[in-house]
Amino acid sequence: MPITIRQIHPVFVGELSGIDARKPLAPEEVQVVDAGMAKFAVLVLPDQKLTDEQQMAFTRYFGTIEDARGGNITKPQDRRLATGMNDVSNLTKDGSPLARDNRQRLFNLGNMLWHSDSSFRVIPAKYSLLSARIVNPKGGNTEFADMRAGYDALDEETKHEIDDLVCEHSLMYSRGSLGFLDYSDEEKVMFKPVLQRLVRQHPVNGRKSLYLSSHAGAIVGMPMPEARILLRELTEHATQPKFVYVHHWRPNDLVIWDNRQTMHRVRRFDESQPRDMRRTTVAGDGSTLAT
Ligand SMILES: [Fe+2]
Repeated sequence: MPITIRQIHPVFVGELSGIDARKPLAPEEVQVVDAGMAKFAVLVLPDQKLTDEQQMAFTRYFGTIEDARGGNITKPQDRRLATGMNDVSNLTKDGSPLARDNRQRLFNLGNMLWHSDSSFRVIPAKYSLLSARIVNPKGGNTEFADMRAGYDALDEETKHEIDDLVCEHSLMYSRGSLGFLDYSDEEKVMFKPVLQRLVRQHPVNGRKSLYLSSHAGAIVGMPMPEARILLRELTEHATQPKFVYVHHWRPNDLVIWDNRQTMHRVRRFDESQPRDMRRTTVAGDGSTLAT
């Protein structure tokens, strides 16, 4: 069966068919997916009923699986999934929804802010692959913004002004904006801010993107309030409805996005009911400062 990609949003996002993610891929098939990712930035693969092992094996065709350490506050003994899997569910190890005041749950609410995965890491993520195992009955859509379209639509003066700016990203900035302010000394070291370019160029298609994220909380050489206002204004610009695709999850959807040219956020859902979503992440291949 040939691989086909049908664009499902005016500016980006393709629905891909003709691949069974449970089975080995030929090098040409990997190339088609990579080319589709460069072009569409988000690919939706419906009807991919995966185990964690199958999801990790599929992910490895696109690079190394990112080391998830340093990206959350979940204690090792509370982890529900194996190393290599990012748990973005609302579930405890015994499968019940996390309590309302659970610290892990409150921290994970930061995923409802616009962000790019792992922008708080020195080497941020390339792709993320999210598999819908249990879809919540109410809400929980994931929204994606095309950051290339956002950059392209800026006026020339703004592009010139921001082209060489460097931001500080940290999980403490995104969570701090929600009032989540208490961290252990160990967490403060783990979440130390890292530097990222505000405008980055895609290594395959050469297009420039706004590299924004709610993890960005400061700009090097700029007073903090001025930086925050600029970041907020750019984020509002880049997340206008015309640049945003809303994904309504169906069970066994697999959605892949390129963190180098998109942002995303999840919307509120019924936290009394399970939402079991499992992410694998392809590691990036360098600092944004080097490009
Ligand atoms: Fe995310």
